[in-house]
Amino acid sequence: MEEELINIKNTALSFILEAEDLKTLEEVKLQFLGRSGKLTLKIKDITKISAEKRKEVGMLANEVKNTIEDAIKQREVNLKHKTEKVLRQKIDVSNPGIKPPLGHLHLVTQAIEEISSIFEKIGFIRARYPEIEWDWYAFTALNFPQNHPARDDWETFFIKEKPSPEKGQMVLTPHTSSGQVREMERTVAKRKELARERSATGVDDGISIRMLNIAKCYRRQSDVSHTPMFHQFEGLVVGENISIVNLKGTLDYFVKSYFGEKRKSRIRPYHFQFTEPSFEVDVTCGVCLGKGCKLCKAGWLELGGAGMVHPNVFKATGIDPKKYTGFAFGWGVERVLMMKDGIEIDDLRLLYSNKLEFLEQF
Ligand code: PHE
Repeated sequence: MEEELINIKNTALSFILEAEDLKTLEEVKLQFLGRSGKLTLKIKDITKISAEKRKEVGMLANEVKNTIEDAIKQREVNLKHKTEKVLRQKIDVSNPGIKPPLGHLHLVTQAIEEISSIFEKIGFIRARYPEIEWDWYAFTALNFPQNHPARDDWETFFIKEKPSPEKGQMVLTPHTSSGQVREMERTVAKRKELARERSATGVDDGISIRMLNIAKCYRRQSDVSHTPMFHQFEGLVVGENISIVNLKGTLDYFVKSYFGEKRKSRIRPYHFQFTEPSFEVDVTCGVCLGKGCKLCKAGWLELGGAGMVHPNVFKATGIDPKKYTGFAFGWGVERVLMMKDGIEIDDLRLLYSNKLEFLEQF
């Protein structure tokens, strides 16, 4: 009998502790102390036991009953307090608000916005041209001879479509230089449209282009520093008396604005079909600032290509190469991003992995 009473006490106490609301607590109370509750029935049984033991058992039963009642009261107070707190929280307008999780622009979009605003400050105008392009824009008009091995430099994706008789095969544009041709053709067409106005007014501002074309490019490549889809930003300036000095000045301006005042740029002779002369542009390493370190080896990091617009490109788009000159440059957005101070991404493919743990860091 004593043992059973102790058991009842322990079960009741654990049920009371587990009750998460007042209703459940009330049910537990009925289950043990109600008219046909477990403890109530046990107490009735006390009359059946021998007289000398009855007093002792009676005292124990009383103690069990008191403990259970106390525990219920205590739990009741706690639960009431908890609900009150929740209610109070609901209406306390002075409580600090809960911040909803906030997203942000992708790292590459942030870089594109920054690059655009740097060039817009010196008069470049953003343009955007097709990512699926004809051979004419991606190669032929850019002075790539048919079947010349230079076409392989760009590891192009070709599209299975009948080629156009004038513009050739369709490709996924492997570089933003196709935008140079589009921009020059557009400018020439617009000039033709305005020819009558020009002769009536006698005002002719000539051809003047300051284009910034930022777009997706595609090449058959995938490793730690290449993704099959990437972004380039292409600058094109055309006008009278545009020289290498203007190109170098623009490069320096960009390098200092994007990477910081301490970084320097240099140009090295190179070869591109569509520029003459052509250059490769380097920037001093952000860690050693040109002295040479483990990261860069010789102190310089390669930024990308640039050069003076080739006369054949002018001819292909209907611009007189004797009257106009121009420069162009085309660099990878992801590449300049990786070259920025304090950004260390050891695998470029992470940028397009959609891994939130990675993206949320920027
Ligand atoms: N289109 C070249 C590339 O993708 C870069 C370039 C652009 C070179 C403009 C010269 C002028 O590598």
